[in-house]
Amino acid sequence: MENRRNFIKKSAMLCAALSLSLPAQARAVQRELKTRNPKSALVLCYSQSGFTSRYGRLMACILKDRGLTVDLADMRSFDKRRLADYDLILIGSPVFYYDIPSNVSDWLAAMPKITGTPVAAFVSFGGPEGNQHNALCHILHLLAEKEGVPVSMGAFRSIPAYPTPDWDSANQRSGEHLPNEATYNQVRNFTRQVLERVKQGQPVSYASEIALREMARMLPLVWLNKKAISLHTVDAAQCINCRTCVKKCPVAAIHPEKQFVDRDKCLACFGCLNNCPADAVVMEYRGKRLYGFPEYLRRKKLNILEPTEFQTCSL
Ligand SMILES: Cc1cc2nc3c(=O)[nH]c(=O)nc-3n(C[C@H](O)[C@H](O)[C@H](O)COP(=O)(O)O)c2cc1C
Ligand code: SF4
Ligand code: SF4
Repeated sequence: MENRRNFIKKSAMLCAALSLSLPAQARAVQRELKTRNPKSALVLCYSQSGFTSRYGRLMACILKDRGLTVDLADMRSFDKRRLADYDLILIGSPVFYYDIPSNVSDWLAAMPKITGTPVAAFVSFGGPEGNQHNALCHILHLLAEKEGVPVSMGAFRSIPAYPTPDWDSANQRSGEHLPNEATYNQVRNFTRQVLERVKQGQPVSYASEIALREMARMLPLVWLNKKAISLHTVDAAQCINCRTCVKKCPVAAIHPEKQFVDRDKCLACFGCLNNCPADAVVMEYRGKRLYGFPEYLRRKKLNILEPTEFQTCSL
């Protein structure tokens, strides 16, 4: 009797686990590509600590090497009206809080139509359970809504630039030397695959997974983190007025001259802390002072490996 009860219990648990990792219905875009022979490409990234833009730059260098005219740009300063000028568009974002950051999804939702333009999505992410697949599907979905034709998606791991007091957890350590040559080979293969699919006129179908991680995305994670940030200000004595934090902040929430952070606007992305060169952004997480990504690299004596292409590529 006890065995039977156990069996039923285990079967129910297994069914629940499986149902939580089933793929949703695949989305396929049935639209002609505007060209199978792209002459120009745009690699557009949002990047907070530099990983996504590093991968995007490598893609741009490879595409240039293949004879395309390539523009590499930061999403925040790019004029959306120019999107229709390109034969191929690659969009890159980090995964934040199990999804793409809201400033990226807002930017993509506000794009004009790019009918028939082949589009590829890529993300950089910090951990294997980071929900990167669904973040990629989110980008492709928003691009398909603008009538772009998805041709590929790729996720590339990096050191997690998430500066909570858990820097040293096992998850952080397992990725601490990334990217390595294998990561860059994945980026190179992805770029070649994008070109190949465009040449063959092969759109890709995509399906987000209904996984536990996807459920986590529905939690108010940004709000919860903001609650945990017990102090967020600027130390006037340390600040050198370089305005890096202002340039990095996606929502204009930080005002170093007034030592003020608009906590309502803030997305808890840690971009100000992770990029301040003077250790002047003061953030406490549940009363514990945080330090930014450059300081993390110093403490761990880590140097980020750059791809060899950067020695000759002018982008
Ligand atoms: C606020 C924040 C939230 C993050 N959330 C996730 C996440 O949910 N899943 C994940 O895999 N990585 C997560 N990470 C790690 C980043 O995705 C990773 O460090 C990424 O490469 C950063 O890209 P960037 O250097 O272009 O900003 C997070 C990092 C930050 C700063
Ligand atoms: S990045 Fe740091 S030093 Fe530069 S303006 Fe902001 S707080 Fe000041
Ligand atoms: S103020 Fe908030 S939203 Fe702006 S960079 Fe800092 S953490 Fe990100």
